[in-house]
Amino acid sequence: QQSLRRGTGSSASQLNSRNFSSSTPHRKVAVLGAAGGIGQSLSLLMKLNPLVSQLSLYDIAGTPGVAADVSHINTRSQVMGYVGEDQLGKALEGCDLVIIPAGVPRKPGMTRDDLFNINAGIVKGLCTAISKYCPNALVNMISNPVNSTVPIASEVFKKSGTYDERRLFGVTTLDVVRAKTFYAGKANVNVAEVNVPVVGGHAGITILPLFSQATPQANILSDEVLTALTKRTQDGGTEVVEAKAGKGSATLSMAYAGALFADACLKGLNGVPDVVECSFVQSNITELPFFASKVRLGKNGVEEVLGLGALSVYEKQGLEALLPELKSSIEKGIKFANQS
Ligand code: NAI
Repeated sequence: QQSLRRGTGSSASQLNSRNFSSSTPHRKVAVLGAAGGIGQSLSLLMKLNPLVSQLSLYDIAGTPGVAADVSHINTRSQVMGYVGEDQLGKALEGCDLVIIPAGVPRKPGMTRDDLFNINAGIVKGLCTAISKYCPNALVNMISNPVNSTVPIASEVFKKSGTYDERRLFGVTTLDVVRAKTFYAGKANVNVAEVNVPVVGGHAGITILPLFSQATPQANILSDEVLTALTKRTQDGGTEVVEAKAGKGSATLSMAYAGALFADACLKGLNGVPDVVECSFVQSNITELPFFASKVRLGKNGVEEVLGLGALSVYEKQGLEALLPELKSSIEKGIKFANQS
């Protein structure tokens, strides 16, 4: 099996010199699980991102086709496809950012935790390779259950002596994307202007949208509407799983959300000021070691974990209710990572 080198040649380099100033930093980004439902769309969206100079697409199967396809798009990055474990090191070497949507998705009736047994092992293996081949890369964890896979990654990195809590992110952006869309619909405001922080974790009741902090503030929403919005945000993933009826979970909206978060990470790395996104990170804003909240991104990853701000009574109750479940998911991940 051979890795593919695509997208070079004179027309590509002419395009590069026309569209990109020499001051745009070189950034290598890898997508692990690039041939999957999320991975393919995410690869497309990362190919469209002018901050990426090298796009490394890795999967256990199917990446040569995806890489060949995406590489024909006339944008800055050079695309490389890697397939199979023996090419994982090459895929990762020199990476600034690694995005992980590898693993199995949910089917109707499954919770994210039902994916644990398969995905935990996949994430452990991939993170072991990251600690060897690109220990300084930022890691965007998409593989579910994020509430456990992020703690697994942290343990793997700790064991190899490469853990830097500022560089590990659970991607919860899809919860934010959903909260914004659903809020705009009910509040009758322009969705493009909406901001809603979503905190906690990334499964069921651990997803806590803070609609009391939503902007723009519109007409007062009734408690009933706020409860329904909260529930729809928490169940957004299940809504898609059921509609897809056995053909997987959110892929297109997830790829959009993953691309948005990766872009924010790259901007932070490049020194763009005031890049703030919600993410599930190592945190001390609650008693739990990991928690999703707004974080400021910078040249080393997380620059600052921002506090929760003022919560409504309903949100305070939601926070109390989610802590035990989130705690046990975190502990499950840590235990798994230290088992074998
Ligand atoms: P999929 O089954 O379509 O694709 C997964 C890909 O991972 C496949 O191409 C498969 O070959 C690959 N893969 C399996 N083992 C691998 C390994 N060891 N190394 C590299 N690649 C490997 O699944 P889909 O729909 O793309 O979902 C992927 C993951 O993302 C699932 O765990 C899903 O639950 C999660 N997800 C997370 C969301 C979030 O908000 N964080 C939202 C939606 C899904």
